[in-house]
Amino acid sequence: MNLIAKNLKYLIFFILFQATAQTKIPEVEALLSKMTLDEKIGQLNLLTPGGGIATGSVVSENVEAKIKAGQVGGLFGVSGPDKVRKAQEIALNHSRLKIPLLIGSDIIHGYKTTFPIPLGTSSSWDMELIKRMAQTAAKEATADGINWNFSPMVDISRDPRWGRIAESAGEDPFLGSAIAKAMIEGYQGNDLTNSATMMACVKHLALYGAVEAGKDYNSVDMSRTKMYNQYLPVYKAAVDAGVGTAMTSFNDIDGIPASGNKWLITDLLRKQWGFKGMVVSDYTSVNEMTAHGLGNLQDVSALAINAGLDMDMVGEGFLATLKKSVEEGKVSEEQITNACRRVLTTKYQLGLLNDPYRYSDDERPKKDILTEENKLLAREAAKKSFVLLKNHQQTLPLKKSAKIALIGPLANNKNNMLGTWAPTGDPQLSIPVLDGFKNIASGAITYSKGANITDDKELATLANVFGTRVEIDPSSPETLLDEALKTAKSAEVIVAVVGEASEFSGEAASRTDISLPKSQKNLLRELAKLGKPMVIVLMSGRPMTLEEENELPASILQVWHSGIEAGNAVAEVIYGDYNPSGKLTATWPRNVGQIPIYHSTKFTGRPAPKENNYQKFKSNYLDVDNSPLFPFGYGLSYTSFEYKNLHLHKTKIKSDESVEVSVDVSNTGEFDGEETVQLYLRDVVRTITPPKRQLKGFKKVYLKKGETRTVQITLHTDDLKFYNSELQHVAEPGDFEVFVGTDSNASLKAEFELE
Ligand code: GLC
Repeated sequence: MNLIAKNLKYLIFFILFQATAQTKIPEVEALLSKMTLDEKIGQLNLLTPGGGIATGSVVSENVEAKIKAGQVGGLFGVSGPDKVRKAQEIALNHSRLKIPLLIGSDIIHGYKTTFPIPLGTSSSWDMELIKRMAQTAAKEATADGINWNFSPMVDISRDPRWGRIAESAGEDPFLGSAIAKAMIEGYQGNDLTNSATMMACVKHLALYGAVEAGKDYNSVDMSRTKMYNQYLPVYKAAVDAGVGTAMTSFNDIDGIPASGNKWLITDLLRKQWGFKGMVVSDYTSVNEMTAHGLGNLQDVSALAINAGLDMDMVGEGFLATLKKSVEEGKVSEEQITNACRRVLTTKYQLGLLNDPYRYSDDERPKKDILTEENKLLAREAAKKSFVLLKNHQQTLPLKKSAKIALIGPLANNKNNMLGTWAPTGDPQLSIPVLDGFKNIASGAITYSKGANITDDKELATLANVFGTRVEIDPSSPETLLDEALKTAKSAEVIVAVVGEASEFSGEAASRTDISLPKSQKNLLRELAKLGKPMVIVLMSGRPMTLEEENELPASILQVWHSGIEAGNAVAEVIYGDYNPSGKLTATWPRNVGQIPIYHSTKFTGRPAPKENNYQKFKSNYLDVDNSPLFPFGYGLSYTSFEYKNLHLHKTKIKSDESVEVSVDVSNTGEFDGEETVQLYLRDVVRTITPPKRQLKGFKKVYLKKGETRTVQITLHTDDLKFYNSELQHVAEPGDFEVFVGTDSNASLKAEFELE
């Protein structure tokens, strides 16, 4: 028997190896056969001449000369059909083998038509919308000559101190995987040679969102079972969706930085998951392994190429040291040839080897970029990303005839509407909230700034780092406040637009205090004392701690940084032209001390019995309840929804069967509206501690007022699986509980057994 088992094992290994063995394309092999070692190394070099918003600490020098010398495989930070054509001409007319360049860019949430930040659009839970946005971003970017997008960023994050949570799809692997798939399909379409599609890049491999203490670039250390069950599924989902390239992250994983981590790049990504695409480092992340303490530039470059990394972003360590490493036997030429093959295959897949100028069409920008259709999509995405956190005394929606005092540092502001990671967008094209209100209101709108966007000491830092993008009002905080109170006194309703400067989230923007700046807190406190109906419109790149603000007699609408159509979208939701439907994809903490905080936590051996009731010797805090301020999946509507008749078509299933879950949802309020029905699963007993519940299904449903619909969600056996302590992906027989409702606190429950 064990002879069969042994042979079976080798047969499986052989099949696996074949699957991961490189695909050999004749055109690529023909090119490879002519290349010198120097030219192969040259293809592994990704440079940026800079010029736009810096996304790293250095920019490349002598780029043109290096392209001519065949020392560049790709560029980023170059755009416009003319500039891209010029770059390709240098490569084709001056380098020996005339190999065209990859032209990359960070198109994280829209190209010139900037959409809401990804944490915002993830709150729409609308995969069709997210796919359309990615398609539009690809259409605009390829019109400008770009053929490779450093997106989607899929990193799971449960720590709003980390600035890049703004760029993520939040805390959940099930939802994050669906979003990754939608974005990749949108960017790549089903034909990469179509010049309106571009190569996607899943990033940042891996676990970057789990940096210790929410501090950017910090270490990541976690168990394999936690990785496989909670943090890795989103990257695997991207691979399964056919993503063409991947980018390694800055952080180390169990002590080895991702860019030099052979287990991560070769064993997991390539051998276990069957990824055959190209892997690029993050910005100088190869060189940075020296700072991590792993040796000099030659050591870390050899470590990276031997780990399976293909392209070195900006660091030029490959260019400077790989030939020497080959001569010293530290790196094989075959390893370099394999990396070069994957770079050339990416160019082949994009159609660049056959037609290097395919993305340089002067006619396309005016036809495809910043069209009205694209801007309407941006407005739709913004409206669907807003989350209504509180509707105090049903103040919202407002009447268009209402006399409104529009107050706050973000009420009449262009610089902060696009949010972080919008390097290709133009903030001056964004619609401020004041303009949005004036576009549709019939009542008087009076504006007053009320406070600076942040407190003075931080303001100096901000202005120092970001220059003119930070407006500093000459008036004193006291004057600003007095003027705002005077404006508010003569209005019927106060709408306060407050929040974070867009540079306060994103890369290198971790914060230990994620509450509103004191000047803004004070503004809200004083406005609330006037006793008028009040709405707080919150713009931020992360959940912010709002314990004090949540106690004010005011409604709260979270609008993130909502892109080029911000003002129009805010106005349409505030006035009820659109009924808000967004649902949080990141749990909203009461205070920083609760972080990390997320819905799929474990029971522990001493679970706290119930909320708002500290018990000694239980897993709870002395000073704050275990519950978040707002849970994962939470979001109010102007209407109300009721859930009844939860039903499973079977209460006993075998391992290859599925469970049809149905529930009746009724719109019991006064407005038509969209609801995201959510399904959470609890595996009651497992061989490793099960989470209390985790998201395993969702469906959006639009219901007219008074309408009832039966919503069906199918639970597949795969949804019951988890990685056990031997990292086997298994569904263990036993009892399961299903919860269906409007957020992760859903209480409507049904049970079934897996036999
Ligand atoms: C940055 C980011 C990465 C981005 C790259 C190029 O540092 O970490 O997400 O794609 O550099 O701009």
